[in-house]
Amino acid sequence: MEATMDKRIYFDNAATTPLDPIVIDTMTQVMQQNYGNPSSIHADGRKSRTLIESARKVVAHRINCSVSEVFFTSGGTESNNTALKCAVRDLGVQRIISSKIEHHCILHTLERLEREGVEVIYCDLQATGEVDYTSLEAHLGEGDKKTLVSLMHANNEVSTINDIARISELCQVHNAFFHTDTVQTIGYRELDLTKIKVNFLSGSAHKFYGPKGTGFLYINGNNQIKPFLDGGSQERNMRAGTENIYGICGLAKALDLACDNMNERVAKIKSLNQHARKQLKTNFPSVTFNGPTTLEGGLEKVLSVNFPPCPKSEMLMLHMDIAGVCASGGSACSSGSEKGSHVIAALSEISKIEGKPVRLSFSHKNTFEEVDYLVEKLKTVMQ
Ligand SMILES: Cc1ncc(COP(=O)(O)O)c(C=O)c1O
Repeated sequence: MEATMDKRIYFDNAATTPLDPIVIDTMTQVMQQNYGNPSSIHADGRKSRTLIESARKVVAHRINCSVSEVFFTSGGTESNNTALKCAVRDLGVQRIISSKIEHHCILHTLERLEREGVEVIYCDLQATGEVDYTSLEAHLGEGDKKTLVSLMHANNEVSTINDIARISELCQVHNAFFHTDTVQTIGYRELDLTKIKVNFLSGSAHKFYGPKGTGFLYINGNNQIKPFLDGGSQERNMRAGTENIYGICGLAKALDLACDNMNERVAKIKSLNQHARKQLKTNFPSVTFNGPTTLEGGLEKVLSVNFPPCPKSEMLMLHMDIAGVCASGGSACSSGSEKGSHVIAALSEISKIEGKPVRLSFSHKNTFEEVDYLVEKLKTVMQ
């Protein structure tokens, strides 16, 4: 098998996904044919503007909101920063309830806001990483400060899914704003904003086979915030700077593809995850999985695995890389950091996690043979 496996195998799809070839075609065409500045009033500019507005319609249609509520950004990080910082600056938010296992772009924003006087509360979590709804409700009931709840839909390291419909209801009962980071679920789960009320929602194209550096922020029409970036009047005055037209068109194409093919893609990813779990358990009986206890309880693209401690498990990522397998120790943003994963650290406080977990994250483009190859390589490394 080894001789035929000279390509690299990519199991790091929660960090980023490769561009879909159809998305590359769309973007290439736009690059070649639409260089007009969307703010110019001549025909070339108007053509570019039309493309951006069509892309906005795609996003609005896919999450079921008004086109006037969709703002293009440079990705999940900017969308999350904008939601939190502008809610404090413009909506009178004095308190934010979040969790210790959010992405760093939320956690570091919270640290900054806390230094600036905002009260930040980290909600209790269940052992799986899912929010403890009783704790959330209790915090929401405390005091009378204007509150924003920021909780992610699915966790990028351990796959845990929060019930955002339930969180939304709790927020409505307590008159709190709700922001959700759906960077890992857009294109993998149906999201209908007529059914789930949120004030802000963040998405990022490179997690669903679109381009890096492009994302969007949904801002509910009732929430009047001021621009995060000052400058020109792009994005209806909300986000200055000449639009990344190729990126925006790529995002829309990738989102259309992800939503049109969601059922088949998710089914394939789920069976890859199932196969990996089975093979890992058969070959390493003492492996455990972090996050939800069952595959059904979480986002199927992510599998966080604890291997039994052994001298080589310390260097597992390196050995796998040498063997041609891309995986990760946690989120891509914390790789290379001495501290390790903040998600695993937070979960270790409530459930037993041994060793340094490996995060495998699957795509519909992966194959069962690739999973088998991974397991064979692990057997060699762990001997
Ligand atoms: C849950 C989550 N939120 C936010 C981000 C940041 O998105 P971006 O890379 O588009 O800035 C990521 C990326 O890893 C993520 O997984």
